[in-house]
Amino acid sequence: MNLGVLVSFEGIEGSGKTTQAELLYHDLKTKGVPVVLFRDPGSTEVGERIRAILLDPKVKISPWCELFLYLAARSELVRSAIIPSLKEKKVVILDRFCDSTFAYQAFGRGLPSRRVSVINKIATRAIKPNLTILVDIEPTKGLKRITHPHDRIEAEDRAYHQKVREGYLRLARRARKRIKVLDGDKPKEELHLEVKGFVYPLLREKGYRL
Ligand code: TMP
Repeated sequence: MNLGVLVSFEGIEGSGKTTQAELLYHDLKTKGVPVVLFRDPGSTEVGERIRAILLDPKVKISPWCELFLYLAARSELVRSAIIPSLKEKKVVILDRFCDSTFAYQAFGRGLPSRRVSVINKIATRAIKPNLTILVDIEPTKGLKRITHPHDRIEAEDRAYHQKVREGYLRLARRARKRIKVLDGDKPKEELHLEVKGFVYPLLREKGYRL
């Protein structure tokens, strides 16, 4: 199957990953590259509803239920949006994907990685990003950047966010070719240049004109 390219953005709260995903999306669109941007969880009707439950600070959710809700939203996103876009040879930019589940549910909540991996594969039909940009930042700095009232996950204590950050960095060490770690302390324009430095060669290699 002749597929498009999947680029995911990852990072803890306030890392700036969404800004970077949006900057890349607009840049590629301006250059005439066929590109779509989705957020996980979300970007489908059912996914957005599941997202609202997951982020509601008034709702208590146990770790396994949380895992299944994230994966239910992802399953819908993969089948109804990501795979069709890849089949159309689009560049698919994802604001979070599987690595979030390993960082937040496996490392953060302590769920067993192997089981998470098995269920995640079912939810994603085993598709994986070609490239992942991890915007790394110290949790206290990241959380300080958030101006809205904290959602259910943002409201977790610093120790939780620290575990998530360490989880991400461990994932990056295990998958050096796929996951590129950027310093979220840098100005967004500088980070955008670094993102393009990783994305452009990949797209050229896949036959996109830039
Ligand atoms: P965001 O759109 O601000 O990144 O919000 C999504 C939240 O959900 C964020 O706190 C990270 C969390 N999350 C998980 O815990 N597991 C997952 O698999 C995903 C995709 C997100």
